Amino acid sequence: MQELRDKYLKAVADVSDEAALEEIRLAALGKKGEISLKMRELGKMTPEERQTTGKALNVLKDEIDAALRAKKVALADAALDARLKEEWLDVTLPGRPRRQGTIHPVSQVMDEVTAIFADMGFAVAEGPQIEDDWHNFDALNIAPEHPARQEHDTFFMHRDEGDDRPPHVLRTHTSPVQIRAMLEQGAPIRVIAPGRVYRMDMDQTHTPMFHQVEGLAIGKDISMANLKWVLEEFCKSFFEVDGVELRFRASHFPFTEPSAEVDIRCSWEGGSLKIGEGDDWMEILGSGMVHPKVLQSAGIDPSEWQGFAFGIGIDRLAMLKYGIPDLRAFFESDLRWLKHYGFSALDLPTVAGGLSR
Ligand code: PHE
Repeated sequence: MQELRDKYLKAVADVSDEAALEEIRLAALGKKGEISLKMRELGKMTPEERQTTGKALNVLKDEIDAALRAKKVALADAALDARLKEEWLDVTLPGRPRRQGTIHPVSQVMDEVTAIFADMGFAVAEGPQIEDDWHNFDALNIAPEHPARQEHDTFFMHRDEGDDRPPHVLRTHTSPVQIRAMLEQGAPIRVIAPGRVYRMDMDQTHTPMFHQVEGLAIGKDISMANLKWVLEEFCKSFFEVDGVELRFRASHFPFTEPSAEVDIRCSWEGGSLKIGEGDDWMEILGSGMVHPKVLQSAGIDPSEWQGFAFGIGIDRLAMLKYGIPDLRAFFESDLRWLKHYGFSALDLPTVAGGLSR
């Protein structure tokens, strides 16, 4: 009996899977198991023998049964542990976005620009992309014979013979929205107008369709100094780096007097575009004090009101901030490009919460 006990307890201790454990149980306690057979032999014994042997066999049977049960639980626990180790999941990881799409750098920059100017008290105004030539040119002090009409490389809308409606163009800049906003809201006014504009032009930094954001602030005593502060404040906030260098250059626009163009220091070295370093300058905006004739066209008395306007190239800002060297790729819809330069749909830019990260 001692032999049986040692044999089965050792077998139970050594076994490592549930199937083999069941075989041991059958071999010991099954109908034809060794211990069951011994129990059957009790009938041939004398009453005294039967009593002592029977008792001992029952003790042995209980002991092996208990060992089998304990081992079964231990094996099940070990199996569960192994599975948990295998199938672990880090629930603290950020969720995977369900959609594959990204926010285009132009949309991202428009949101960033809007957030910054909203913070400075500018509302958003809008106008049509197919614009009549009065809003796009005449009201902005660009007379029909003015050379600026040619400089703008304008796309003209087709006109049937005998059509006597005013000629329409694809707007060449967002400045016509200045006129629309002033006619609608009067003065004082503080708006920006982001949107698409069109010119016949195509190279590494020009595409026939591109994006601008117009700015307009009219009040009783708004000056060139306010313009300079607003633009510097904007660039500091937008580029999120210390070393941004701006160059204000005297210029000319028919709709502003005086006028200034603003360039930003950059480098094209090694095929990548960087701001704040290098010997190149990239023009990013035109600006100036709104011309009295423009105020007049928009129904505002220039002897009472004055202010500034500016027009920023949004695509250029995106190229500079995110180091994208070729503008043409912006509008090719190449999925690899969009994946690389696109932004997460869940990261809405705010001035306080971070614009781009
Ligand atoms: N409309 C001008 C352009 O497209 C930019 C500009 C806007 C300049 C407002 C001065 C004031 O080049």
